[in-house]
Amino acid sequence: MSHHKDPGRLKAGSLPVVQDFYERYPYPPPVESLDKYRALWQDPQKKRADYHLYWPSAPYCEDHCILIAGCGTSQAAKHAMRWPDAKVVGIDFSANSIDKTVQLKRKYQLDKLELHQMPIERVSELGEQFDQIVCTGVLHHLASPDIGLKALRSVLRPEGAMQLMLYAPYGRAGIYMLQDFCRRLGITASDEGIDELVAALQLLPPAHPLQNLLREAPDFRNPAALADALLHPQDRAYSVPQLFEFLENGGMTFGRWINQAAYEPACGVMEKIPQISRLSALPKAEQYAATELFRGSMLTHSVVAYRNDRPGGPQQPEFTSEDCLDYVPIRRADTICIQERLPPGAAAVLINQSHTFKDLVMILDHAEKNLYGGIDGTASIGDIIRKNPVSTLSADASCRFFERLWQWDQVVFDQSMQTSKSSRHAKAM
Ligand SMILES: C[S@@+](CC[C@H](N)C(=O)[O-])C[C@H]1O[C@@H](n2cnc3c(N)ncnc32)[C@H](O)[C@@H]1O
Repeated sequence: MSHHKDPGRLKAGSLPVVQDFYERYPYPPPVESLDKYRALWQDPQKKRADYHLYWPSAPYCEDHCILIAGCGTSQAAKHAMRWPDAKVVGIDFSANSIDKTVQLKRKYQLDKLELHQMPIERVSELGEQFDQIVCTGVLHHLASPDIGLKALRSVLRPEGAMQLMLYAPYGRAGIYMLQDFCRRLGITASDEGIDELVAALQLLPPAHPLQNLLREAPDFRNPAALADALLHPQDRAYSVPQLFEFLENGGMTFGRWINQAAYEPACGVMEKIPQISRLSALPKAEQYAATELFRGSMLTHSVVAYRNDRPGGPQQPEFTSEDCLDYVPIRRADTICIQERLPPGAAAVLINQSHTFKDLVMILDHAEKNLYGGIDGTASIGDIIRKNPVSTLSADASCRFFERLWQWDQVVFDQSMQTSKSSRHAKAM
C-alpha cells in the first residue's frame, strides 16, 4: 500500500501535486456526448431503484439537492441529466475538469447544475446543505482523507446520504507495485513517461499481480486512466476495517454497500466454505472484513453512509417482523433473468451485470421464480404473496426469499408505506 508522507507538497513554483496532476490528466477521460447516458436514465424504475438504494424508508422524490464532490469531467453533468428537477452542485479543484463539465452543461442546457472550482476541504464556504453527497474515487487522493470526510459531513443534511467509493488494497497490490517501480525509476506523469510505461507493460511477466487488471479493465487502455492508476502522485487504499474506522472517525455510519452480494456470507462461493456457520456468527463488519480477505481481489469499496446522528438510524430493511410484507421490491437496473440452458433443477438464474465476481449467480426454483415474476415496482411483498395462492412457499419462506433477492443485489425496497403506517400507528397510541 502506498501512502505519501508529504502529500500537500507543492510542485516547484506552482500548484499542489495532485491538483497539477488533474489539470494535466483530467479524469475520467472527457466525453462530448451524454446522449446514451440520457437514454439509459429515461426508465422511471431505474430512477426509483436508485433513489431507494439511498433512502429505503423515504417517499420517492426527484427534487433533492445533490453535491458531487471531486466531480471530474462529467459526473456532475450526468447527475444533473439523471435528475432534471434536482439542484446539482459539482465541485473540483481542477479547472480543466470544471471546464469540461461546463461544456456539457451548455450543450445539454443543464440549467440547475452549479459548478465551482474549489477544494473539498473548503466546501462549507458554499453555505449550502445537501440531501445527497456523491464522492467517488476522490477522498483517497486527499492529503488528509479524514479532513475531507469531515468537511463533507458538515454539509450533509441530518437525513442525507453519502455515496463514497474508496480504493481497496488487496486487489490493487499490482498497481502499488508498479507505482513503486515507476517512482524508483523516475517515470513521471508526463506524455513521455506514459509512453514509456505503456511500452514496459507489454513486457510484464504473465504471472505479475497487475496482469489480471490489464486483462479485465478496458479502462487501462486509455493513457489518462493508466496515469490515474500507476503514476498518481498520492493515493491510498482502505481495507474493510480501515474503511469502518475512517467512517467512524468522520462521524458517519455504514449504511450498506452499493453492491453487497460480494461481501455477504450468504452469497456465492462464501456460502460453500466449511466455516460458513462460524463466519455468519460474526458481527456484520467482521463478516465483511473476512469476506474481503477470502475473495482477495476487490479493487474498490463503494458504500452508502449516513451521519451518525441521523434520526432513526440507517433504516435498512429488516426481515424479522411482519412489517416486511409492506415493502415494495423494485428490480435493480443491471439485473437480468436467464431462462435458458439452466443448471438441473433451476427454473431461472438471476445475474446482476454490475457484479465482477463470477460466482454471484442466483439460482431460483419454480416457486421462487413465480414470486420474482410478481415484482412490478408497485406491488408489496404481501401483495405478491397473495397473488400467488398456489405457491408452495409459506409467508415466512417467501419473505426470506425477498431478503435473499436484496442480499444478492437483485432488488431494493421502497419501505415508505411501512414507515408511514408505523408513524400513523405511533400517533394513534
Ligand atoms: C479519479 S477522479 C474522479 C472523478 C469523479 N468523481 C468520477 O468518479 O468520475 C478524482 C477527481 O477528484 C478531484 N480532486 C482530488 N482531490 C481534490 C480536492 N482536494 N478537492 C477537490 N477536488 C479534488 C480531481 O481533480 C479529480 O477530478
